[in-house]
Amino acid sequence: MEEVSESIYDHPKYYDLVFGADCAAELKFLEGCNAKHLEGRAERWFEPACGTGRLLFRLAQRGYAVGGIDLNPKAVEFCNRRLERHGFAAAVEGDMAAFKLAELRDSSSRSEPKLWDLAFNTINSFRHLGTERAARSHLECLAGVVRSGGLYVLGLHLRCTEAPPSETESWSARRGNLAVNTHMWTLERNVPKRVERFGIRFDVHTPTRQFRISDELVLRSYTDRELRRLVKSAGGWEIEETYDFSYDIDAPIAVDATCEDVVYVLRRTAERA
Ligand SMILES: C[S@@+](CC[C@H](N)C(=O)[O-])C[C@H]1O[C@@H](n2cnc3c(N)ncnc32)[C@H](O)[C@@H]1O
Repeated sequence: MEEVSESIYDHPKYYDLVFGADCAAELKFLEGCNAKHLEGRAERWFEPACGTGRLLFRLAQRGYAVGGIDLNPKAVEFCNRRLERHGFAAAVEGDMAAFKLAELRDSSSRSEPKLWDLAFNTINSFRHLGTERAARSHLECLAGVVRSGGLYVLGLHLRCTEAPPSETESWSARRGNLAVNTHMWTLERNVPKRVERFGIRFDVHTPTRQFRISDELVLRSYTDRELRRLVKSAGGWEIEETYDFSYDIDAPIAVDATCEDVVYVLRRTAERA
């Protein structure tokens, strides 16, 4: 099979199929976070590292004002093209560790920047921030754009210290004539440096072409304790509740050293970051 070594994020059409096929549980959970942890309806939703906007798009369709930021221009273009087809515009290109409210866009077309009610980042994108400094800067930037009392729903895989981690994952997605088989596997877990490297490949099947996109993801690792220490040091946020990737709003979890998938619900405190 023909093979190209490229970033999977440079292929938003395939990324969106692979990760966007089933958003229902995440959306239900996010709306559940709103209902359970915020008073009233969150009207304004912001996603740092929004990618193709698979969640933003569906939230916009439900009537929320949405906005996002992502480093990858192809993902941002894909995100905005789809939103614009439905009358919205929302994503900007930029670094989630260095942004200000005035630089963001808003699908409700307001001219004045306005703070967001609920931010979310559900599938490990936060771990793309390779240093403690960048991660802290991200939380500080976010504290500058989310209103006091608002939420940041942050989902990530932790480094579990008392259970063997999962090392491979495979899944398939299909839309019409397009099918993508995805395989992801661990290349390295460097505990002292807190770096984990994963191989990922998309095997793309169309009626006229079959090819493989191969990439490597480099992610910073966190234990629960490291994540909590970071949140405390950044200021402006407190951890309100923890869940896992079963996305059951009625089943919060107590995080221990065997937990691999955790969703932290952070609350923006009144104190300035
Ligand atoms: C796993 S994808 C998630 C996309 C989207 N949040 C979703 O749930 O489908 C990770 C995204 O993080 C983006 N990203 C990585 N580092 C970033 C940074 N420093 N600032 C903004 N986006 C970043 C990538 O371009 C990519 O679109």
